Amino acid sequence: MSEDTRLVVVSNRVAVPKARGAAGAQGGLAGALNAALKDRSGVWFGWSGEEVEENSGEISTQTTDGVTTATIDLSKRDVDEYYNGYANSTLWPLFHYRLDLAEYERETGKGYERVNESFAETLRPLIEDEDIVWVHDYHLIPLGERLRSRGVKNRIGFFLHIPWPPTRLFVSLPYHERLVRTMLHYDLLGFQTQEWLDSFLHYCRTELGAEVDDASGSVTLDGRTTIARAYPIGIDWDHFTSLRDTGEARQAEQRLLSSTRRRTAMIGVDRLDYSKGLPERLDGIGRFFDRNPERVRDLVFIQVAPPSREDVESYQKIRTLLEQKAGQINGARSEVDLVPVRYVNRGYSHEQLYGFFRAAKIGLVTPLRDGMNLVAKEYIAAQDPEDPGVLILSRFAGAAAQMQEAVLVNPHSPDDLSHAIATALDMPVEERRRRYEALVSTVRDDNVKDWTSNFLRDLDTR
Ligand code: F6P
Repeated sequence: MSEDTRLVVVSNRVAVPKARGAAGAQGGLAGALNAALKDRSGVWFGWSGEEVEENSGEISTQTTDGVTTATIDLSKRDVDEYYNGYANSTLWPLFHYRLDLAEYERETGKGYERVNESFAETLRPLIEDEDIVWVHDYHLIPLGERLRSRGVKNRIGFFLHIPWPPTRLFVSLPYHERLVRTMLHYDLLGFQTQEWLDSFLHYCRTELGAEVDDASGSVTLDGRTTIARAYPIGIDWDHFTSLRDTGEARQAEQRLLSSTRRRTAMIGVDRLDYSKGLPERLDGIGRFFDRNPERVRDLVFIQVAPPSREDVESYQKIRTLLEQKAGQINGARSEVDLVPVRYVNRGYSHEQLYGFFRAAKIGLVTPLRDGMNLVAKEYIAAQDPEDPGVLILSRFAGAAAQMQEAVLVNPHSPDDLSHAIATALDMPVEERRRRYEALVSTVRDDNVKDWTSNFLRDLDTR
C-alpha cells in the first residue's frame, strides 16, 4: 500500500480509544484493528454502540493516537432487528454450526439489509478516490455490494472473523444465494482458516455454479472475479508481551497465586457465549473431580466470563445454565476452606489478564466452534519460558490448525476433557517447555501485524 493510500476500516462496533485495552481477549476484532490503524492515516467507521429513539444519520468523529473514528448511533428497532436479530440470532448460530439455535425471521432479515444500506449511504461521502476499504465480519456481509451500487470503484476487501459453515448447513438460510452473491463484489475475501475457506469455495462451486480455482482462491461468476484466501489472525505480540512489566499485571499474578495457595490454577477467559463450550467445560471438570476426588486439593478452576449480547434469549439461557453447573460442582466438592470453581461474570483489563494467564499453569480454551480464538494465543504469550503452563485447546477452534502442540481435546466429551486436565496437571516441565517453544514461535511470528500487512498487500495488488 503506498504511503498516501488511506485505509478505511468498517466494522459493526468501533472501539473508542479509551475502551480499547481489554477488547482483544474478549473479542478479537477490536484489538486487531487497533493495531492495524495505528500507523496509518485513515478512518474507522461503524456503530457507536449507542441506541437512540430515531436515527439521525449524524456522524461523530474523534481522533486519538492518529486513529480517526467515525461512528453513528442506531435506533432501537435497528439494534433489535440487525444486531440482536439477524446478526446474532440467525448468522452467528448458523455460522457456529448451531442450526438448533438459528432463527429465521423475515423482519430481522429486512432490518439487516436496511442497516447495511444506511451504513453504505453514510459512509459513501467519506471515501476518497485512492482509499482502500476493509470491511469486517458477519454483520456487514452485503456492505461492499451496497457501496458498489453507489459507484464506489475503490478496492474493497472483506474479512470474516467467524467460521464459514459447511454447505449442507449453510443452505438452511433462506436467501443464502442472495447473501453470498453480494460477497462476490469484494475484491478480496479473507477467512481465518483453510477449513472455513474450503467450505466457502465448496458452496460457490456447488450452489452458485461459480468457476472456482482452489489453488489461487479465485471465484468467477457473471464475468466478475474475486479472490478468497485464508489469513489466520494473530495477537499484537509486542504490545501484549510488554504488559509483563506493568504493575497491574504483576499485582494480578500475585493476587491469583496467593489466593490459590499451592493449588494449580486453571483458567478460562471467554465472552459468555454458547459457542465457547462453557457448560461442556464444566461437565468435563465435574467428571475430573468425580474420577479424582482427592485432587480437589490440587486444582482450582477460574472461569472469567463477561456477559455478552444480553438481549438475546439464547445468551440469557446459557448464563442460567452455567450458574447452575458451577453451583452443582461447588456444592458437591467445596470444603470450608476451598471452593473448586470460581465463576466470575466480569471483564478484566488486558494487563490483569496477562497476570492471570501467567499465574495459571493450565489454560482451558474449549469452544465448540470458533473462527480463531485469540485467548489461546494470549495464554501462550503470557507464559514464563522456564516454567510454562499447558494449553488445553479444542480441536474445533480455528487456532488448533496452527497450535497442534497444545493438548487438543474434543470439547463435547467430558471424559476427554477430564483426561486432558489430568495430563496437564502431571506434565513434566521438559514436556511443557517443548510444547511451549513450538507454540510460542507461531504466536510470535504469525502476529496481527503480519495478518494486517498480508491482507492489505493482497488487496492492494488486486
Ligand atoms: O469475534 C466476533 C465478534 O463479533 C467480534 O466482531 C466482536 O469483537 C466480538 O465478537 C464481540 O461481540 P459483540 O460486538 O457482539 O459484543
